[in-house]
Amino acid sequence: MVSIHVEDDQKTLEVEPNQNLAEICDEHPISLLFGCREASCGTCLIEVVRGIENLSPITADEQDLLDVLAPDNPHARLACQCVVMGDISISTLKG
Ligand code: FES
Repeated sequence: MVSIHVEDDQKTLEVEPNQNLAEICDEHPISLLFGCREASCGTCLIEVVRGIENLSPITADEQDLLDVLAPDNPHARLACQCVVMGDISISTLKG
């Protein structure tokens, strides 16, 4: 199991590894919202406070949007594009 700590909610989820973060949130409702789920709307922008190395690599489409929404934040990710492989701590970011 891996743990996902959601700072906004002060809640920690314990889930099976190697799942997409959007799918995890479908089963474990938290305050993080999703829209397109295709790296184009930016609704799911998060800051990975801890464990960014435990997420799947950034895709080209994700990088394009991160360059617009959070160009100066190396800890920003789009939650809909992340597969969780180890423990992480996240908070929502406003783009
Ligand atoms: S839900 Fe639209 S970019 Fe993630």
